[in-house]
Amino acid sequence: MRGLQAAVLFTAVAAAAAPTNCTTRCGDISFEYPFGVEPGCYHPGFNLTCSSNDTRLFMGDGTVQVLDISIPNSTLRVNATAMAFDPADDVQRGVINATTTWRAAAAADDDGGPFVVSRRNTIALMGCNARVDLRGGDRRHSDNLVSSCTAVCPPVGGGDDAAAHDDGDGGDGHTIAIIDAWNGKCSGVGCCQANIMLGYPSYTIQIKQLQEKNLHSFDFQYIAYITDETLNFTEEIAGRIATPAALPATLDFVIRSNSSCSTPANSTAGGECRSEHSFCEDYKGGGNTLLGYSCVCSEGYRGNPYVAGGCHDIDECHSPGYCYGDCKNTEGGYLCQCPLGLTGNASIPNGCYTY
Ligand SMILES: *[C@@H]1O[C@H](CO)[C@@H](O)[C@H](O)[C@H]1NC(C)=O
Ligand SMILES: *[C@@H]1O[C@H](CO)[C@@H](O)[C@H](O)[C@H]1NC(C)=O
Ligand SMILES: *[C@@H]1O[C@H](CO)[C@@H](O)[C@H](O)[C@H]1NC(C)=O
Ligand SMILES: *[C@@H]1O[C@H](CO)[C@@H](O)[C@H](O)[C@H]1NC(C)=O
Ligand SMILES: *[C@@H]1O[C@H](CO)[C@@H](O)[C@H](O)[C@H]1NC(C)=O
Ligand SMILES: *[C@@H]1O[C@H](CO)[C@@H](O)[C@H](O)[C@H]1NC(C)=O
Ligand SMILES: *[C@@H]1O[C@H](CO)[C@@H](O)[C@H](O)[C@H]1NC(C)=O
Ligand SMILES: *[C@@H]1O[C@H](CO)[C@@H](O)[C@H](O)[C@H]1NC(C)=O
Ligand SMILES: *[C@@H]1O[C@H](CO)[C@@H](O)[C@H](O)[C@H]1NC(C)=O
Repeated sequence: MRGLQAAVLFTAVAAAAAPTNCTTRCGDISFEYPFGVEPGCYHPGFNLTCSSNDTRLFMGDGTVQVLDISIPNSTLRVNATAMAFDPADDVQRGVINATTTWRAAAAADDDGGPFVVSRRNTIALMGCNARVDLRGGDRRHSDNLVSSCTAVCPPVGGGDDAAAHDDGDGGDGHTIAIIDAWNGKCSGVGCCQANIMLGYPSYTIQIKQLQEKNLHSFDFQYIAYITDETLNFTEEIAGRIATPAALPATLDFVIRSNSSCSTPANSTAGGECRSEHSFCEDYKGGGNTLLGYSCVCSEGYRGNPYVAGGCHDIDECHSPGYCYGDCKNTEGGYLCQCPLGLTGNASIPNGCYTY
C-alpha cells in the first residue's frame, strides 16, 4: 500500500516537473524548465518564442532577444536595445526633459514579473556635456536615484574659441582629442559608465544637459545603454559611425513568491525547487524587498534544481581545481589525499612533499 502511494506521488511530481516533448533548444541556445516554449513547459512568465526560422530566441512576447540562459546562475542575457535621445527635441540645457523607461522584460510588469535587472549591469551614456540619471523603484518608492554619470567634451585648444560658437559643431578635431585623451576607455570624456547597485524590474532614464559656460553643444544624439559589458570608446563610436544598436544586459530571474524560504512550515516558497540536493534562496530586489526565490543545487552538486533529478553529483576528481593528489569521488563530495609516502595538502598544486 505504501509502495503504491509512493509510486503515484512520484508520477505526479515527474509529470508536473518534466513535461515531455518540450523544446529545449533554439539556434545555439539551450534551455530547460522553468523556461519553455510550449504551453505546459514553462513556469508562468518564463515563456519563450523561437523565431520561425529557428535561429533566434525571444522572451515571451517576441520583442526582447535572448542571448543566453544560465539556470545555475539564475540569469539570462538579453540583447538590450540602445536608447537614443535627440538633443534638439528631447534634451534642453539644464532641464531634464528626456525620459524613457527601461524594463527588464516586456513580460515583467513592475510588481509581478519574474525578471529583475542584475547588479552586474551598468548605465552608460555616449554624448557630450550631459548627465544621465537612472531612477528605479517599486510600487512604494518609485523614484530613487540609483545611479548617475556625466560625460563631458572639453573645448579643444584653449576654450575661448570653443565658447564662441555654440552651434552644433561636432567635428573630427573633437573626436580625435577625446579618443587621445582617454585611450579608448569610456570614463567621463565623450562617454561615461556607472555601476547599478540595486536590482529593480524597471528603470527610468533621464538625460540632462550641463549648464556650463564654454561648453559646446553637439547636434548628434545622446545614446544610453543598460549593459553588462564594458564600453570601448573607439573612434567609430565617438564619431557616431558605428554605435551599437543593442548591447547585452544580464537579468536575474526569480520565482515570484510572497513567502521567505526561511519560513518553510506553511510557506509556498521553495515549491519550484524540485530536485533532491537543492535548496531555496530568498531573492531580494532594490530596497531590500522580497521578490521571491531562486533554487540552487547543494554544494557538491550542479545542474537544474527546478526539475526532479536535476542536480547531479560533481565528479571533483575529473574536474580541474579540486584535487592534486589521490582522489576518490563520493556522493556530494570527494576524498583527496597525498599519494602514499608524501605528506602535505593535496588540495593545493604541488602541496604534497616527502616527509
Ligand atoms: C529569420 O526570420 C526573420 C523574420 O522572420 C528575419 O528577419 C531573419 O533575417 C531570418 N534569419 C535568417 C538567418 O534567415
Ligand atoms: C507569453 O508572454 C507574454 C508576455 O511576454 C504574455 O503576454 C503571453 O500571454 C504569454 N503567453 C502565454 C501562452 O502564457
Ligand atoms: C555564472 O556566474 C559565474 C560567476 O559569477 C560567471 O563566471 C559565469 O560566467 C556565469 N555563467 C553564465 C553562463 O552566465
Ligand atoms: C519638455 O518637452 C515638451 C515637448 O517635447 C515640452 O512641451 C515641455 O514644455 C518640456 N518640458 C520642460 C520642463 O522643458
Ligand atoms: C570591449 O573590449 C573588450 C576587450 O576587447 C571586449 O571583451 C568587450 O566585449 C568590448 N565591449 C563591447 C561593448 O564591445
Ligand atoms: C542584437 O541586436 C542588434 C540590433 O538589433 C543586432 O544587430 C545584433 O546582431 C544582435 N545581437 C545578436 C548576438 O544577435
Ligand atoms: C503577493 O501578494 C500580493 C498582494 O497581496 C498579491 O497581489 C500577489 O499576487 C502575491 N504574489 C504571489 C506570487 O503570491
Ligand atoms: C502559518 O499558517 C498559520 C495559520 O494559517 C498562520 O497563523 C501563520 O502566521 C503562518 N505562518 C507563517 C510563517 O506564514
Ligand atoms: C588545504 O588547502 C585548502 C585550499 O587552500 C584549504 O582550504 C584547506 O584548509 C587546507 N587543508 C589543510 C588541512 O590545511
